[in-house]
Amino acid sequence: MTAAIAPDTTASPESRPSMRLGIPKEIAQGERRVAVTPDTAQKLQKLGFEVWVEAGAGESASFLDSAYQAAGCHVVEDVPTLWAESDIVLKVRSPQWHPDLNRDETELLRPGGKLISFIWPAQNPELLEKLAQKNATVMAMDAVPRITRAQKLDALSSMANLAGYRAVIEAANQFGRGFTGQITAAGKIPPCKVLVIGAGVAGLAAIGTARGLGAIVRAFDTRPAVKEQVQSLGAEFLELHFEEDSEGSGGYAKVMSPAFIAAEMALFAEQAKEVDVIITTALIPGKAAPRLVTQEMVEAMKPGSVVVDMAAEQGGNCEVTRPDEIYTYHGITIVGLTDLASRMANQASQLYGTNLFHLLSDLGGAANHTIDMEDVVVRQSTVVLEGEVTWPAPPLERPAPSKPTPQSVQTEQTPAQTKPNPLKQLIWPLIIGAALFGVGVAAPESFISHFTVFVLAIFLGWKVIWDVTPALHTPLMSVTNAISGIIIIGGMLQISGPLTSTVTVLGAIAIFVSTLNISGGFFVTQRMLNMFHK
Ligand code: NAI
Repeated sequence: MTAAIAPDTTASPESRPSMRLGIPKEIAQGERRVAVTPDTAQKLQKLGFEVWVEAGAGESASFLDSAYQAAGCHVVEDVPTLWAESDIVLKVRSPQWHPDLNRDETELLRPGGKLISFIWPAQNPELLEKLAQKNATVMAMDAVPRITRAQKLDALSSMANLAGYRAVIEAANQFGRGFTGQITAAGKIPPCKVLVIGAGVAGLAAIGTARGLGAIVRAFDTRPAVKEQVQSLGAEFLELHFEEDSEGSGGYAKVMSPAFIAAEMALFAEQAKEVDVIITTALIPGKAAPRLVTQEMVEAMKPGSVVVDMAAEQGGNCEVTRPDEIYTYHGITIVGLTDLASRMANQASQLYGTNLFHLLSDLGGAANHTIDMEDVVVRQSTVVLEGEVTWPAPPLERPAPSKPTPQSVQTEQTPAQTKPNPLKQLIWPLIIGAALFGVGVAAPESFISHFTVFVLAIFLGWKVIWDVTPALHTPLMSVTNAISGIIIIGGMLQISGPLTSTVTVLGAIAIFVSTLNISGGFFVTQRMLNMFHK
């Protein structure tokens, strides 16, 4: 039994020493995640927040009440009190009808309260109205823009990453064969062929997982920019030779023209006959999922094949998907699960909780908590501000293609402007020539012969060293090895005299040190190379 701490319901929010965060248990059917874990609760307390958690909120994600208590949270049994007494309510799913209390969760939020959760404002305009009537301020985690600065708050990405992994695991579970190919004494097993449609966060995670299981993976996306990422994961990127800009605002793709969609569907119709698993992740946020896999394509697949439609919640990429269901259509298993991230509740809660922590930290922690609508990330994510619906936010500007600036034009002209002056180039050879001539005229004959050998040695040594191709190891190693090689030859020429002479001893030392340098260099380089071997 949970030892619940009775909340202080008498204190008004203003008179409390710190801001209070309320974490209710998720009530959506099948939802196992929780907005805050014991670990993220501790981080939030360091930001100055007091954390109240509903009893049993983390149980289905394997976080027990005792762990929350040990992390310094207050575990609260009474749900309406938790909602009413919290300055900010943190949730995973958007507010909905509470089956036990027989009330909508929006009614539980205290007037003027704050809520941060997934909201899906495009699909839930009535919810926004209800929250506005409560004079609430609401931030939607699904509206965080995909810009570099907001990556640490990007809950859609952290969830999609796990969901992409899980989609492959669900497909493998339904598929009656192994993913990897094998040659055994009993015969050859061909590898499974997987087609991933949409190579965003979930798609790339799915590609990586399917490759890890040994499948042959092909992928398609409207954004050719993802080609390299797909290939770097070991998959083949299918291409359409179709000129159309696919980048939209906020880091997402844009809706493509009917002609483009028709062309890609023709490609999928061909692929459907060949592949064993199709995983669809195509989506443009705020829009219904594009229908890309038709009934005919599914019927053309080999019996026993699997389709996992990750966009099932947004209407599905596949015509025959049934949201939240796994069923067989014409011998093909259609997986329409919408809770893939929730099926990995422990990790998903930890990642989502960390996203929330970063958001609250960026909002100034408990002491300086401010909703600054001038901040682009806050503006995009805030869907209701003090009772006013602020969704949709003005579209984010796409970074303009860089035009050559006057400065860069100037840079391009620089080589022409600084054309080397032939007179200046001649100065050094002239000085050196004059010096050599002076030495030739003034120095004794015996010195001239030694001097000639010296100059030729410098020239030859320089040629030998710089013409070495760094084919074996690094350019630096090649050069130092060439120098050491010359020193060894020099040393060998000098050690022919008596053993005790200084020249022989110095020659021997030179050979020893240079040999050490060469072998040591190879040894160290080999160790460095081994670090990259798996
Ligand atoms: P994302 O926005 O990162 O990726 C979507 C990709 O689809 C983009 O790369 C986009 O270019 C591509 N795309 C858009 N239209 C296309 C078209 N006509 N043809 C080919 N590609 C197209 O989205 P993310 O985060 O990867 O999520 C993917 C899907 O997975 C979404 O539908 C999301 O709701 C869903 N999801 C489902 C979960 C579940 O439990 N079923 C859990 C998490 C995410």
